[in-house]
Amino acid sequence: MDQLHVFPTVAELTEAVCNQIARASCQAKAESRRFSLALSGGSTPRTLHQTMTSTAHSKTICWEAIDFLFGDERMVPPDHNDSNFRMAQETLFSLAPIPPDNIHRMQGELSPADAAANYQRELNAVLTAGNDGFPNIDLVLLGLGPDGHIASLFPGTQILEEQKKWVSAVFVEKFNSWRLSLTYPIINRARKIFVLVTGESKADIVATLFTDARAAAQLPAKRLAPAGELHWYLDAAAAKNLSGIA
Ligand code: 6PG
Repeated sequence: MDQLHVFPTVAELTEAVCNQIARASCQAKAESRRFSLALSGGSTPRTLHQTMTSTAHSKTICWEAIDFLFGDERMVPPDHNDSNFRMAQETLFSLAPIPPDNIHRMQGELSPADAAANYQRELNAVLTAGNDGFPNIDLVLLGLGPDGHIASLFPGTQILEEQKKWVSAVFVEKFNSWRLSLTYPIINRARKIFVLVTGESKADIVATLFTDARAAAQLPAKRLAPAGELHWYLDAAAAKNLSGIA
């Protein structure tokens, strides 16, 4: 069941998400197990990372229990402006007590095929596959693109049909570039998925997703159907066209 959480401001939204991450990471630590967290790319996560590394919140998170994964990456070097790793490095990893071995980077500097093969090996080393051959990431953080994409699962791309690989390379026509992304099989086996959507520029796609079933059926985000929990975290601006259901 999708759970919709709407907050008046981005600050309140990121505080709520941060508290969830703090609680889950410290519960994992208390139970002597790892907490796998797949980070989202794009710009929305910057505000979440800021909250996580703030004086008020950093000490509430059990950083050492977390294995940081990536939901997707642009096929660029890690110091490139477009790199999701660089954004996470600047806004999160460099500002928190995280052991480097717990950061699992997608190697955007390699060829798409090599980067996909290497990340599959990395995921195999960090995660334990279940009886169905797929692992259960504890928490996958996602953003929502204006075209309804999540991670790098873009409308009309082959990767949407991938049913076996955990991670795959995808050529995105509209950006004329390659990306690496976790696939639906592994995203939909997450214990929890949080989709963070903020700002008025997302109000239309959010309204389509939640109020226009026919149009929504074409959107990659609509195929999120985790075995676990799916939580939508919206600020008031992104939810402004949802009157009545939010
Ligand atoms: C990426 C992301 C992508 C992003 C959405 C939303 O690598 O760009 O994984 O899926 O989450 O495009 O991006 P914003 O947060 O910038 O709106």
